[in-house]
This record gives sequence, structure tokens and C-alpha cells, in this order.
Amino acid sequence: MKETSKHKEAKRIRELVFNYWVSRVVLTANNLRVFDVLEKPLTAKTVAKRLALDPRATELLLNSLVSLKLLKKKGNRFINTSTASKYLVQQSPFYLGDIIRHNEVLWTNWSYLNEVIKTGKPASRAFELESFILGMHNLARLKKDVLIKQLDLKGVQRILDLGGGPGTYSMEFAKRGKDVYLFDRPETLEIARNLIDKEGLEDSITLLEGDFLTDPIGSGYDMVLMSQILHAYGKRDIKSLLKKTWRALNPSGTLAIHEFYLDSSLTEPLTGAIFSINMLINTPQGRTYSVQELKGFLRQSGFKVIGVQRLDDTVLIQSQKRR
Ligand SMILES: C[S@@+](CC[C@H](N)C(=O)[O-])C[C@H]1O[C@@H](n2cnc3c(N)ncnc32)[C@H](O)[C@@H]1O
Repeated sequence: MKETSKHKEAKRIRELVFNYWVSRVVLTANNLRVFDVLEKPLTAKTVAKRLALDPRATELLLNSLVSLKLLKKKGNRFINTSTASKYLVQQSPFYLGDIIRHNEVLWTNWSYLNEVIKTGKPASRAFELESFILGMHNLARLKKDVLIKQLDLKGVQRILDLGGGPGTYSMEFAKRGKDVYLFDRPETLEIARNLIDKEGLEDSITLLEGDFLTDPIGSGYDMVLMSQILHAYGKRDIKSLLKKTWRALNPSGTLAIHEFYLDSSLTEPLTGAIFSINMLINTPQGRTYSVQELKGFLRQSGFKVIGVQRLDDTVLIQSQKRR
């Protein structure tokens, strides 16, 4: 069938708007653990029975997941595609289900966007720590090898993972024989502790509890990693945290900032621009910063930028103390 191209842009706008239906289908399938049971081919009726769901509703849900290429359908049986097996089944090392659960929590807050734009105030009504922190682990597991490869760890022994969350990067440093300090809030460190214990790395990582804006963060570090923490704060807090970090580093120490980013127009790439809205909704002062802005904060805090690397949708900015 030939498609009329007269209203292509209208179609694009409609797609932009209905994206949330698609999103909702994936969130629900993840919640109901549909992918975990579909490693083997099953009919909708059997899936419904196993998961205690309505059979008609389940069939419609599974059909839509086929359309999204997360399931395949043969006759009346459904099975995961290789993508779903790799990323949506809980046992997989590449599982994304926790970050998807975190997105569901954020959904509640995003529903208040009208109000947020009118008042300029965040709408952080819903928050759930476990899916947030395990969700960070889902993402960092996919990124850790690329990120660590970019760091020059020669001569680096004492590392601070500031706002290290689940400790994904801390564990990688520990596996390389470094003395690692993971600083975060006490309730987050409870979750990190479980993950670290599972890896048998409890003796190689020191957990430091506190608020990095107001509490001491230690000193004598050869390297400080700040991964995905600055976007939650405004310029004043960022500059004061960078100055504090400057004091915590050894004279030839390195600060590595890993962040979402924007270009100098603050409009591209899309991930950075939309993530800014997420911070607008969920924090009083946070947003995505441009690479130029981050470099500026570093310079104003006494650092010399020594390297900027793009890691897909994020950026790694490495700097040292200016002499
Ligand atoms: C988005 S997560 C990033 C986690 C980890 N660095 C990563 O990249 O996977 C931000 C982390 O910073 C921590 N954090 C944010 N503000 C903090 C503060 N003022 N003091 C201590 N930790 C803080 C949060 O608890 C959370 O674990």
C-alpha cells in the first residue's frame, strides 16, 4: 500500500505523543514478569494462568509486545526475542528490569509536569530507593568496561567513588587491586553492601556514609570518580563540591566526571535534553549541563581539563589540579 507523504509531520507528532502507550506496555510487561516466563514458547492462556492474569488481556498485551519486537509469535505461542532474553529476563547479567521499575516510579512524578512548568517547583511525590539504586547498577554494568578503559589507573591506588550508589564502579576498581572508598547515603550503602558481599569484595571497599555536600569526604585520594551525581544539583552546590574534591585529591590526583551532557545550545542530544526535564521534575536545582559548562565549573574550581571522551549518551571529563 502506498503511503501518502502529505502529512508526514503530523504522523511524527502523533508518534511522539503515543510513545507513552508503548512505554506503558513495556513497564507493565516488566512488572508482571512476562519475560521471565517466556524463555520457552507458551500460549497466552498459559502465561495468564502462570502469572494469575486475565487471559484476554494477556493475549492483547503479548500481541503488542510482538509488534514491539520483544516477543515472537509462532501459531498461538509466544516466546522472547533474543533482545528480551538478553535485557529483560531477571537472570541475565544485562538485565534492565530494575531501571524499568525505576522509570515506572518516575512516571508518577512526570504526570505533574504541567504543574512543574507553571510553578518551577519539583514534583518528587514518588520515590523508591531499591529500584533506583539497582537501576543504576543495571546501567553501570553496561557501561563499566568502556568507562574504566578510559581511565589511566597507572600509579593510582586510593580511589573515592563519590555518590557511588550500588558500587558498580567501586567493585571494578577493587577487582584491579585498588583501595576503594565508596561514599553515599547510609540507606544506599545498605543496598551496595549486599551487591559487594555477593562479589566477595567486602574487604577491598570501605563504605563512607554521609551527605557529600555537608559532610567531610576524606582526603589523600589519587582519583575521585563522580559518576552521574552533578546533574542532581545547581551550579552553586556543584562548584562547592568541586572545590571540596580539589582539597581531597593528592597534588597529581585525577577527578573523573561521568555525566549526561548537552551541546552549547543546551538542546542536543535528545537524551541530555529530556533528562534535564527529569531533573526539573525530581530535584530543586538539577539539570543536564553542557560539556562547556562542566569544563567551566572545573576551571573555576582549580582544575585543568586533561581529556573529554564521549561514551555513547554520556561524557567522561578527566581533570587534574592546576599547578
Ligand atoms: C544517579 S546515582 C549514580 C550512582 C553511581 N555513581 C553510578 O554512576 O552508577 C547518584 C548517587 O549519588 C548519591 N547522592 C546524591 N546526592 C548525594 C549526597 N548529597 N550525598 C551522598 N550521596 C549522594 C545517591 O544516593 C546515588 O547513589
